[in-house]
Amino acid sequence: MKGLILSGGKGTRLYPLTYTRAKQLIPVANKPVLVRVIEAIREAGVIDIGIVVGDTASEIKDALSKRTDLGVNITYIPQDRPAGLAHAVKISQEFIGDDRFVMFLGDNVIEGGITELIQDFANNDWNSQIVLKEVPLAEAKSYGVAVLNPDGSVNRLIEKPPEPPSNLALVGIYMFDHHVFEAVNSIQPSKRNELEITDAIQWLIDHQYRVYPHVHQGWWIDTGKHADMLEANDYVLDELQPFIAPDAIIEDSQLDRRVSVEAGAKIINSVIRGPSIIGENTVIKDSYIGPYTSIYHDVEVEGCEIEHSIVLENSKVKHLDVRLQNSLIGRDAQVSSDSIGKPRALKLYLGDHSKVWIPK
Ligand code: DAU
Repeated sequence: MKGLILSGGKGTRLYPLTYTRAKQLIPVANKPVLVRVIEAIREAGVIDIGIVVGDTASEIKDALSKRTDLGVNITYIPQDRPAGLAHAVKISQEFIGDDRFVMFLGDNVIEGGITELIQDFANNDWNSQIVLKEVPLAEAKSYGVAVLNPDGSVNRLIEKPPEPPSNLALVGIYMFDHHVFEAVNSIQPSKRNELEITDAIQWLIDHQYRVYPHVHQGWWIDTGKHADMLEANDYVLDELQPFIAPDAIIEDSQLDRRVSVEAGAKIINSVIRGPSIIGENTVIKDSYIGPYTSIYHDVEVEGCEIEHSIVLENSKVKHLDVRLQNSLIGRDAQVSSDSIGKPRALKLYLGDHSKVWIPK
């Protein structure tokens, strides 16, 4: 069994965070989503993993090469443009060979891992297994959607239907045997000019291959949008086993039970409500943080209240007289009050597609 992670694509829905960065590298509870995906595959016993990469290939390679804890063999598979999930499978044929494989979208986070799922597929002679999740019908149009037969097998798949015929959304985890290569080499691009994995699976069904679903019962987040990142952060923080690094410095501060503090962090004269995580070498001073907050590494926070937010590396958040809430602050960002006095005015240097909410 091999693993295939799709980590190309553009990430436009997460602008401005992803203008220059791979969306799969945005951390959830201080660990990049892509690393969470690799760990889920490794925990299921699969260590030969191909990663399909696009424009952000060098950043992804750089980030993964710095991690010594992955314990997997990675083969990078370059994709020259985001031509669709089935296109990504097509270009991975040489890496996969005749093996069965699990394909995992590099921006998905799922509760409970995929170990049982992989065992289920290994114990059956199905040609493909897809993971589904019941979602509110109104939301189903944002996903691939499946219609099942009375015997439980998959009858039909439709990619992002304007009027969904079912509320079973395709989670970004799929299992295949080598017959999928016949499918991806037979289908035509869709209206949006992509080779759709839903069309490839439909091709398998139409050619009498056996495609079975697994309906996932836990939570699942496709971290495509800002609100999804915060939601995934909530779920993962809820599950995190709290820890305090031995060299973290905590002075005159109060920390809840469900707070994690990473190596070299300093917390001075502050209150941290859990679940929250404070990253490596980050300094929190005179502040109130949490709950549901992840502050990544090398951040400085001083004189602030931050709740239900994610702050990325090297940012500075200082002396705010209003609470920062439900926010996603990118890398190297600065947020502070200005003491220039009157007129009381906002001063903003914002990138394209930024969003700011000002309390009235
Ligand atoms: O998250 C679940 C949904 O993922 C499914 O319900 C849909 O059926 C499936 O098409 C997919 O929809 P998305 O619109 O979320 O796909 P997205 O374009 O965000 O791509 C998913 C991942 O695959 C992402 O990490 C980028 C990567 N990718 C995408 C394309 C189109 C590639 O590596 N190459 C590609 O050509």
